[in-house]
Amino acid sequence: MKIHYLIIIALFFVACKADEIEICTDEVALHSLADFPIGVAVSPSELQYNAAYQEIVTTQFNSITPGNAFKPDALQPSEGVFDFEVADSLVAFAMRNNQRIHGHTLLWHNQLPNWMNRFSGDRTAWIKMMKTHIQTVVRHFEGRVKSWDVVNEAFEDNGDFRENIWLEHIGKDYLELAFEFAQKADSTVLLFYNDYNIALKNRKCRAILEHFEGLKSKGIQVDGIGLQLHIFNRIPTNNEIENAVNAIVEAEYLIHFSEIDISMNWTGGSMNLTTNRLERQGRKMKVLTNIFQTIPKKQQFGMTVWGVSDLDSWIPSFFEREDYPLLYDTNYEPKLMYCGFLEGLID
Ligand code: XIL
Repeated sequence: MKIHYLIIIALFFVACKADEIEICTDEVALHSLADFPIGVAVSPSELQYNAAYQEIVTTQFNSITPGNAFKPDALQPSEGVFDFEVADSLVAFAMRNNQRIHGHTLLWHNQLPNWMNRFSGDRTAWIKMMKTHIQTVVRHFEGRVKSWDVVNEAFEDNGDFRENIWLEHIGKDYLELAFEFAQKADSTVLLFYNDYNIALKNRKCRAILEHFEGLKSKGIQVDGIGLQLHIFNRIPTNNEIENAVNAIVEAEYLIHFSEIDISMNWTGGSMNLTTNRLERQGRKMKVLTNIFQTIPKKQQFGMTVWGVSDLDSWIPSFFEREDYPLLYDTNYEPKLMYCGFLEGLID
């Protein structure tokens, strides 16, 4: 009897060991270990003024998503006045480094210029305004930006359409119009729908897939789905992520893990940064990477982390809590989350 217990305990430790994330360095570039693009959301000013940040972005990643620089408030600050200066320099930076640029985002409810929020006009005028924004931006980057998040976060967690200015002034078909306008502006570009909690909220996932199946059956081009994956260690569960991924694979979309960060602080306020928490975060990152690799090759668009270091993450300021959700620590040293990514890639 006792012997059995000993064997079980020994097996348990072997199993834990196998699951442990080893401490690693970042001397080998993540993207060199992957056969799909490894991306990061970037800030042009950090790239310009922060040498450690720039070094990591240029060496580790082969895909870039502008964190804010391609949003409507950045690109069309006044009606009819487009400002591409910063965005163009970011594209030039990426091209110099042979990095893909994924455009984020043509339509959203946040980070809209004031004039757009206050725009007045009938439905036709709203459609024209939306079309002008989408087509001017897509055409400007033609040949340089080959994929776009056309619409971001159009659904609520319960599957309803999110109330936003587009729904209010144009109606539900703003989504299909947006995809059509983008497609007409550049027929070679890949068109994505991007959202959060797709893996966590089954109803949201189903509503999105149903809606876009409807559009596709009408002949509207929709190439991919971005799962943002702003997640926690335990939420969503690995099973929930797998289920969402499988459903999207089955519906034959490209899949982008588009905005990965793994939060630790579920309760809010301040927190202790323990080794245990760092290890769990590392394991979750490894699992995410493993799940991504179950996607058929031709549907793997890439995995993108939403920022470089814990210093750059949007989470602490946006949610007003202490947190450490990214691959690098505040000294730009790789964390166990980085090691989990690396291990997932070489698994
Ligand atoms: C965030 C940026 O990272 C922040 O700098 C900005 O203040 C707010 O937006 N979902 C998205 C991203 O699609 O565009 C958001 O980015 C994070 C949530």
